[in-house]
Amino acid sequence: MDLALETRKPAEARTDVLVLGRHAGEGRPPAEIAAVDRALGGLLSKVSASEKFEGKPGQLSYVHTGGKIPADRVLVVGLGPRKRERGRGDAEAVRRAASAAVRRARDLGAATVAVFMPSDGLSPRERAQAIVEGGLLGTYRFEKYLKEKNGKAVRTLTVLEPDRRGAAGAREGVRLGRIWADATCVTRDLVNEPANVVTPTFLARRAGEIARAGGLKLRVMDRAECAKLGMGAYVGVAQGSEEPPKFIHLTYTPSGRARRRVAIVGKGITFDSGGLDLKTADGMLRMKDDMAGAAAVLGLFDALPRLKPPIEVHGLIAATENMPSGTAQRPGDIVRAMNGLTIEIGNTDAEGRLTLADALAYAAKHVEPDEMIDMATLTGAVVIALGQGISGVMASDDGLCARLLAAADAAGERMWRLPLHDEYKEGLKSDIADLNNISSQRGAGSIVAGLFMREFTSGVPWAHLDIAGTAFTERELPLGPKGATGVTVRTLLGYLAATEGRR
Ligand code: BES
Ligand code: ZN
Ligand code: ZN
Repeated sequence: MDLALETRKPAEARTDVLVLGRHAGEGRPPAEIAAVDRALGGLLSKVSASEKFEGKPGQLSYVHTGGKIPADRVLVVGLGPRKRERGRGDAEAVRRAASAAVRRARDLGAATVAVFMPSDGLSPRERAQAIVEGGLLGTYRFEKYLKEKNGKAVRTLTVLEPDRRGAAGAREGVRLGRIWADATCVTRDLVNEPANVVTPTFLARRAGEIARAGGLKLRVMDRAECAKLGMGAYVGVAQGSEEPPKFIHLTYTPSGRARRRVAIVGKGITFDSGGLDLKTADGMLRMKDDMAGAAAVLGLFDALPRLKPPIEVHGLIAATENMPSGTAQRPGDIVRAMNGLTIEIGNTDAEGRLTLADALAYAAKHVEPDEMIDMATLTGAVVIALGQGISGVMASDDGLCARLLAAADAAGERMWRLPLHDEYKEGLKSDIADLNNISSQRGAGSIVAGLFMREFTSGVPWAHLDIAGTAFTERELPLGPKGATGVTVRTLLGYLAATEGRR
């Protein structure tokens, strides 16, 4: 989809479908929309009244213009009530409205769509970015394996910013919206691909493409190198699988002096069968998405070279399958992680924390970052605790956690902090090793996994995002279809953008 910015008034926009956002509970429309209504002889207000259009989020109403304005059709979309509590606008309302409207315009067969959203406390940059994110994410599809593809597609999406003083900001918003949405779709594509395609080798190849395109440094380590580095926990998970594991280390270095250094780690289990502690058929069905954290790392690194933040960013993925076989890790085995801690394998299905343990220990030792963040489809327990709409956050550093939650809020991604309650560490005790990978006590499965991983962070400020519930959706969402969501990509981009000025 091509993107454009025009400083034209909505009533003058030449387009197949003109999208106009309307807030709920507003008597008189803003001047730009009133002008369209006037030009149409009051048709907009008449149709809105007869259809009981109230401006509810996502509510749609459309009219043919009969040639009275350059646009063929007008699609009015609800933004919900104006929010002023926090003194700033509601970017998520704009994203969702743009998503719903552009999706509908596409289904109506429009090739060109122009969007006008009334001013609402967002800057022109924020508003334009939200429109573009909504339009691109809302019309995302994964169709490569379908013989019959949906032929309808919007060719050009135009953001209307009638106020010339806002044009430069809006242009930057369009640029950022494109990069952020593209990165999210890189992640979605990888997660939607089946596990017979996305193997650790495939992830390494994809990392190679991203590195080449963006001029990034890439190091990929194989089984033997990882074993030599002492990654016994990671290599133990990989030992049952015929697909060779790949440890992926991407580095983005700014051209000037780096203000700070951040490590971003993603769980990269390309298929989680559970290992010898085999999952049930139902539990295994969707386990191709167990690399959603890794996919988010690759999406992020697709964007970084286009954004050029003054921060050094390292992306780390300990990619492997988790399979049962004659060579697979046994329950009761003991492995030694890179930081020297020994781990008794209480359950081979708690494999993510084992691979992440070594990735975090590697980051702390070889990258020496100011802070690290991991994303992982780690526990079924987080789905019980927070459902499919909210990711769990655990952190060893309150400042890092607060900045991450603020970035998530701005991106419209729901996240909620869970406490790393020290007393629950008791449950991870083993009689014959430093740690067990599962708890002997009931409950708090997500927190226990977080406490386990904290043991491998060497005191580096760290945050962990458990995305087991949010990485994949079984129903259509406001910003995308069924399937992979690309969750955490835009939160991380916002986090890194906001962290640019910090030391
Ligand atoms: N990949 C799963 C977690 C998961 C569950 C992701 C559901 C997405 C949806 C993880 O490796 C796992 O199997 N966790 C176990 C841990 C248990 C054995 C301690 C779990 O959550 O049941
Ligand atoms: Zn598992
Ligand atoms: Zn897993």
